Amino acid sequence: MYSIDHLDIPPLKSAGGAVRLPGSKSISNRVLLLAALSVGHTDITDLLDSDDTRVMLAALAQLGCRIEPQDDGALRVHGLGGALPVKTAQLFLGNAGTAMRPLTAALALLASQHGGAFELSGIARMHERPIGDLVDALRQLGCPVDCLGQEGYPPLRLGNGQPQALNLDAPIRVRGDVSSQFLTALLLALPLVARKDIHIDVVGELISRPYIEITLNLLERFGVQVQRDGWSRFTIPAGSRYTSPGRIPVEGDASSASYFIALGALAPATPGRDGITIEGVGLASIQGDIRFVEAARLMGAQITGEANRLHIRRGLWPLKAIELDCNHIPDAAMTLAVMALYADGTTTLRNIASWRVKETDRIVAMATECRKLGATVEEGADFIRITPPATPAHWRAASIHTYDDHRVAMCFSLAAFNPASLPVRIEDPKCVAKTFPDYFEALFDVCQADAARIPVICIDGPTASGKGTLAAEVAQRLGYHLLDSGALYRLVGLAAGKAGLSTAEDDLRQPEQAQRLGTLASGLQVRFDGPRIWLDGVDVSDALRSEVAGMAASRVSAVPEVRAALLTLQHGFRRLPGLVADGRDMGTVIFPDAPLKVYLTASAEQRAQRRYKQLISKGIAANITSLLADLEKRDHRDSSRAHAPLKPAEDALQLDNSGLDVEQSVQQVLNWWQGKTVFSGN
Ligand code: DC
Repeated sequence: MYSIDHLDIPPLKSAGGAVRLPGSKSISNRVLLLAALSVGHTDITDLLDSDDTRVMLAALAQLGCRIEPQDDGALRVHGLGGALPVKTAQLFLGNAGTAMRPLTAALALLASQHGGAFELSGIARMHERPIGDLVDALRQLGCPVDCLGQEGYPPLRLGNGQPQALNLDAPIRVRGDVSSQFLTALLLALPLVARKDIHIDVVGELISRPYIEITLNLLERFGVQVQRDGWSRFTIPAGSRYTSPGRIPVEGDASSASYFIALGALAPATPGRDGITIEGVGLASIQGDIRFVEAARLMGAQITGEANRLHIRRGLWPLKAIELDCNHIPDAAMTLAVMALYADGTTTLRNIASWRVKETDRIVAMATECRKLGATVEEGADFIRITPPATPAHWRAASIHTYDDHRVAMCFSLAAFNPASLPVRIEDPKCVAKTFPDYFEALFDVCQADAARIPVICIDGPTASGKGTLAAEVAQRLGYHLLDSGALYRLVGLAAGKAGLSTAEDDLRQPEQAQRLGTLASGLQVRFDGPRIWLDGVDVSDALRSEVAGMAASRVSAVPEVRAALLTLQHGFRRLPGLVADGRDMGTVIFPDAPLKVYLTASAEQRAQRRYKQLISKGIAANITSLLADLEKRDHRDSSRAHAPLKPAEDALQLDNSGLDVEQSVQQVLNWWQGKTVFSGN
């Protein structure tokens, strides 16, 4: 997951391959609540791990619900069976609407039944999201509900500590035209008190019906059969009672599928790969957003599928502009707005008033950000009309503001396929954690870019200059991959030792020995796993850092055969979205086209001091005089060898970090980098 300020996505060229989607947010949070309210325990598999589900899990645990991960990956929820072990609690629900609404209804009823009192709050945006219609419905029932801030909005206090007589005789009236989540909340909560038939009447047209279908479907899985009269009256039969289905899988998120459906529809296919395959959700999905498939087909996508899988290829190109009522796919419809940027005319998405009360006002957000990219956009109370940039030259490199809205961030990543080959900056990319924490990793896994367009920052310099620390930190701040090229030479030294090959300088001068070492280097069985490095299945991370390994590396690195053998391996690190590479010849030999090259220096005394402190802090005995001597010897060997000697690239920026701390050096490199991006003027 990218916990960084912004993520720069290079221009993307093609896509192909398979994606496995995380579990659906709507299903995950409903299933969690149902399991908690049921009699018996439920094992939930493929549950989404995201901000919203974590909020729900934390709330349920606070309410006394026991939740245990199982060895097989399932999460076991021990149902409360209608009991209320904790009678007062303050629950913080972040920005998770799928937790706030149903917990409000369920806890209002439970508090009234058992004499409890609960306070529910969230982040500032949550306190701007209306909940008055649900509050009204609960008050009709006789539940004490107080709005602690503004009337009609969270934070809320539910119950007053005293049991209440509930009025279940009159039909409960709830508005259906603001958010279907109010009706869902009542449907999920009322079976708790269904001593007699309970009727719910929907006032106004019911929006987002597919989400009600998910609710009804899941209620049935937990033993409650709601009767439905059209979309205006729902009856919960007397005696309804939640019982655990035992085990329940969560489908992949159909709204998340929309980004990959769109990707398959708009990206040229990667040669040798047959379009995009989506696993975990398919044509048998109970989620309404699966009907995004129909909308994408209207725009030209070629989509085939099975019960639990979809396959997408680009069909019509450019995409076909459409005019569509999107009431049935409110969330996925945002993805159509980005597909519209690649269409042959003006696309109009209608009946999307609910966008205004989501994580942000999504009509304003989509309009503003599409305009930044060069599109012409008209917005109304309940529609958006998008005309793509007239020509490639009309596209703009935009820094996309994401409004703490996961869907805005995911949608606009697709703008990186723009015909002008401009990069796209996504601000606050970690907001995707709400539903799809690894979205960008999944995207980059199936997308290709021209290698030359994938940025590389080179950080070269002598031994112990602090390159490694600086490079790792810069990579982390930018969300880029990291290449510690020194580790590769250290690995060769280590592998030679294991294979019984001498790395003494005299031996290495023998052509046969150099040949053997080259062969060894080209067949290295190495795996990089975050900071850990594995050689032939053994974790060698610590062995690699030793002084002996460093000296051996310095010797083998002078062998041209070894350097040649490691070339392809090093080029392979240049992957989306970018790379920070540290070493001796990153800027001069390996990535000569890198847009930023830094040459890091510090005096030999400084570096010996640092290495000394490093070793001592690890409890390794060290002698400063011999460290300095070793260092100077390595400097001399590294810079005097015939092949790829250590020297600054002609276009390198020099950074003497003798007087700087790590953060100051990082800031200097990030400032240089920012100046190289097209976003520096933003
Ligand atoms: O950066 P380091 O100390 O891990 O590097 C170990 C040795 O590897 C160093 O003495 C020289 C060699 N090396 C190299 O020749 N080229 C590189 N790009 C990186 C390291």
